[in-house]
Amino acid sequence: MNTATSQIAITDLHPSPDDILGDVLAGLSGKPKRLPSKYFYDRRGSELFELITRQPEYYPTRVELALIADSGLEMAAAVGPHAHVVEYGSGSGRKTRLLLDALVDPVAYTPVEISRSALLASVERLDREFDKVEVLPVCADFTQPLALPEPANPAERVLLFFPGSTLGNFTHDESVRLLLAMRETMGEHGSALIGIDLQKSPELLVAAYNDAAGVTAEFTLNLLARLNREVGSDFDLDGFAHRAVYEPAVGRIETFLDSLSDQVVRVQGRQFAFAAGEAMQVEYSHKYTDASFNELAARAGLEVARSWNDPRDWFGLRLLQRT
Ligand code: AVJ
Repeated sequence: MNTATSQIAITDLHPSPDDILGDVLAGLSGKPKRLPSKYFYDRRGSELFELITRQPEYYPTRVELALIADSGLEMAAAVGPHAHVVEYGSGSGRKTRLLLDALVDPVAYTPVEISRSALLASVERLDREFDKVEVLPVCADFTQPLALPEPANPAERVLLFFPGSTLGNFTHDESVRLLLAMRETMGEHGSALIGIDLQKSPELLVAAYNDAAGVTAEFTLNLLARLNREVGSDFDLDGFAHRAVYEPAVGRIETFLDSLSDQVVRVQGRQFAFAAGEAMQVEYSHKYTDASFNELAARAGLEVARSWNDPRDWFGLRLLQRT
């Protein structure tokens, strides 16, 4: 179904709505307790993430932006002209703008977002700036294969764009499923440009997820405020503390909310007891090596056609194609 919004039509693939209550009850019933990081991004959470990207310790956004600015023309040459650019999730738009500026005659731009409000915001920003690029937003769950809208001027290829190392929030098995869905969506001659945060000194990684100003802590705790509002839980935000550690053996940042006392949290008539010091797991942020990322790609029938890192090898972009 197409719904007219100003001049731009949204293709609504009717993603199944999140079962937030079901996910919370299941997560709190687990051992250890956990909550899904995908629920971080309500309005306040997205605002706080934007603030995180401006903290001195949080390097990924700055480094990825600089990498696209420096290597965009090489990326454009590797991708080829007349691409239909499909972005998974909608960020602040700065990376998209750099990429669209570098590409040779991109035909269309499709942001894919499960949240209609986030989708509309990203669309309005870009539509005003790129008058030669048709904007074809899709409201859908990007973990599933997508039937893309057809641009008015036919595209020669699809380029999926998945920046920010958002892939890192998924487990490896989930990542392979997502990459398989991307393989479907990109088609025979398509490709995917994926941002990945790279393994580096634990000090730098731990600092990036425990900034001195406490913005990341506020971001993590905002999850509890959102759940209190949306599922009627009674988490005491002063009763939990943010903690992010790096596990070099598995190559990931693991973020927890630690209970500061023995306490009981109620959710819709159910009670969940927390012991003092008990850790609730709320986010993974995987960090990659060439070998670990190549293996994920290979498991999904994809290969790294081109690869770009910043000069310190902190962050990379990988262009994937079907094997
Ligand atoms: C938006 C998923 C890329 O994992 O680095 C930042 C989210 N969490 N600080 C990341 C996040 C804590 C971020 N991503």
